[in-house]
Amino acid sequence: AKPKVWVSRPLFPDVLARLAEYFDVDAEAVEHRHSAERLKRKLAGVDGAVVGLADRIDAAVLEGNTRLKVVANLGVGYNNLDLEALTRAGIVASNTPDVLNESVADYAWALMLAAARRVSAAERWLRAGQWPGSNMRFDDWLGLPVHGRTLGILGMGRIGQGIARRAAGFDMRVLYHNRSRLPEMVERECQATLVSKDELLRQVDYLVLVLPFTPENRHAIGAPELARMKPSAVLVNIARGGIVDDAALAVALREGKLAAAGLDVFEGEPAVHAELLALDNAVLSPHIASASEETRRAMANLAADNVIAALGFGEGAGKPPTALNPAVLARGSAHKA
Ligand code: GLV
Ligand code: GLV
Repeated sequence: AKPKVWVSRPLFPDVLARLAEYFDVDAEAVEHRHSAERLKRKLAGVDGAVVGLADRIDAAVLEGNTRLKVVANLGVGYNNLDLEALTRAGIVASNTPDVLNESVADYAWALMLAAARRVSAAERWLRAGQWPGSNMRFDDWLGLPVHGRTLGILGMGRIGQGIARRAAGFDMRVLYHNRSRLPEMVERECQATLVSKDELLRQVDYLVLVLPFTPENRHAIGAPELARMKPSAVLVNIARGGIVDDAALAVALREGKLAAAGLDVFEGEPAVHAELLALDNAVLSPHIASASEETRRAMANLAADNVIAALGFGEGAGKPPTALNPAVLARGSAHKA
């Protein structure tokens, strides 16, 4: 019999067809919020799984599972996976790096520009029928300039570098803060200068967050950090909810201590802080930064590649291309009692 694979959310039919060449595929036909109990039950009956960012795969979900060999995450961030528990259980985990870098970098710019130029608020006003008869003034809807300003990037991986490279077209000065300095060649390509986090907060007109969500990065931007930023500054979060203290951000935006924000991710999403929802100077979107046709397709195919290879099939058999814990493969499957 073919190995079994569970796909936790609807995927492109052609990607499911690729999986079905090798596996007996159980793919969810509609989106669910899977409970821990349902995840546990589903994962107990399969050899591999493709999961989404809302699926929390932890020790409790894996408890007693002796069959599962691979979990492929549909996303580059994998804070929904307990990597230690997966590794302990001898299960390969993978994510979808690189294929989404350019789409996410594009989207960071969409949020920057929309927040600066009040695109969402203006559209709400227009759609509400307020333009005719409004006698809109020459000095209404004034936004903030983007060109020639200073862009700051917190977390300078490949997505951050993509955002920085685009800044050249806007004649911006680019500052970044990162755990380690980029190679000189990359710095030159991005025309980006390393500064301390404090300098970054104080100097930039636009701050884009591209950090992974780790316990240390929780509330990396909270009230003390927001207080150090210029009142004319714009904050963009395309990384993860929880990196920003959303309650503190709402206060700063309401009190004019920060000009605007562009947010694609939220603490406790899909719930969004009620005060953010009420603010006109926040541009909000439902975690869609990687959502271009080409990119989402590439992410789905990469997740499929990982499952196919980890279960010993295809050209890359035994070598899942973007495994997060490849040591599990070196250990072999013999330890799986
Ligand atoms: C999206 O948030 C991802 O991690 O890919
Ligand atoms: C942003 O919306 C601003 O113009 O302050």
